[in-house]
Amino acid sequence: MSDDLKGAVPKLAIRDLHVTYRSQHGEDVEAVRGIDFSIADKPGTGEVVVFLGPSGCGKSTVLKAVAGLLPPSKGEVLVDGVKVSGVGRDRGMVFQAYTSFGWLNVRENIEYGLRLRGVPRAEREPLSQRYLEAVGLSDSAKKYPKELSGGMKQRVAIARTLINKPKLLLMDEPFGALDPQTRWDMQGLLIDISKSEDNTILFVTHDVSEAVYLADTVFVLSKRPAQILERVDVPVFNERDLSLKSKPEFRDVEKHLLDLLYKKQ
Ligand SMILES: Nc1ncnc2c1ncn2[C@@H]1O[C@H](COP(=O)(O)OP(=O)(O)OP(=O)(O)O)[C@@H](O)[C@H]1O
Ligand SMILES: [Mg+2]
Repeated sequence: MSDDLKGAVPKLAIRDLHVTYRSQHGEDVEAVRGIDFSIADKPGTGEVVVFLGPSGCGKSTVLKAVAGLLPPSKGEVLVDGVKVSGVGRDRGMVFQAYTSFGWLNVRENIEYGLRLRGVPRAEREPLSQRYLEAVGLSDSAKKYPKELSGGMKQRVAIARTLINKPKLLLMDEPFGALDPQTRWDMQGLLIDISKSEDNTILFVTHDVSEAVYLADTVFVLSKRPAQILERVDVPVFNERDLSLKSKPEFRDVEKHLLDLLYKKQ
C-alpha cells in the first residue's frame, strides 16, 4: 500500500493501473504506467484530490478508468473495496465540455438522473430545488441551456451530477473554459460543496494555482505515460479570498508543484 491506511477500506484505491490505447494506425499509446495510491475514507469530511499534470499526460485517462468508462490494461480500481468494472451511480463525472441536454430546461436537466430511476415528481422537486439553490441557479430553473453562460452550464452539470449523491465526484478540467472571475467563483462553490455534501472529489487540472486552492491532496503526474511524481498534502488555508493567492504559504506550495512539473522530467 502506498500510504498510511492501516486495515481500513479506502474510499478509493488504484492498484498498479496501466492503460495503453491502440491508435487508429495500430500503434500502442501508453497513457498510464503503474499509478498506485489510496484515498482514505474520512466520513464527515469532504475531500478534494487533484491530479495535476501536463497536457496529454494521461489525466483524463486515469479519471475515465475510475469512472469505469475504459478498462485498465493492467491493475484495478476499487471504490469502497469493490472493483470497478463499468460505470456506476456511486461515481458521477463532470466533463470539460458542457454536457447538458439542449431540449430540457435547467430543472429538467438536474432531475434527469432521478427521472431515469423512476423517482416520482413529488420527490424530485424538493431535491432539484435544493441543488438549484446550492449552485445558485434557482432563478434560472426554467431556462434552456442555450440561454445560459458557460459558468451557468457548468453549474447545471455539477448539480445534475450531485443530485445522484455519488460517493466520488469526478471532474475533468471542468472550469478550463471559464473567465478568471467565474472560475474563481466556481472554485469557491466547489469547496463549499465538498464540505456540505461530504463526498470525495477527484479533480483534474493543469493549472497549478487551481490545484493549490482546491486540493487537500495533489498527485503530480509526469509527462505521458502518467506516473505519480509526488503526493503533496496541501495545508489548510483558512481564508478563501483572492489575497490568499499572494500569501507566502500559498506561493510555497505553488513553487513546489511547479518545480516538480517542470524541473524533474
Ligand atoms: N482513444 C484513444 N486512442 C488513442 N490514444 C488516445 C486515446 N485517448 C487518449 N489517447 C492518448 O493518450 C494520451 C493521454 O490522453 P489523456 O486524454 O488522458 O491526456 P490528458 O492528460 O487528459 O490531456 P489534456 O490535459 O490535454 O486533457 C494522449 O497522448 C492521447 O493522445
Ligand atoms: Mg484531459
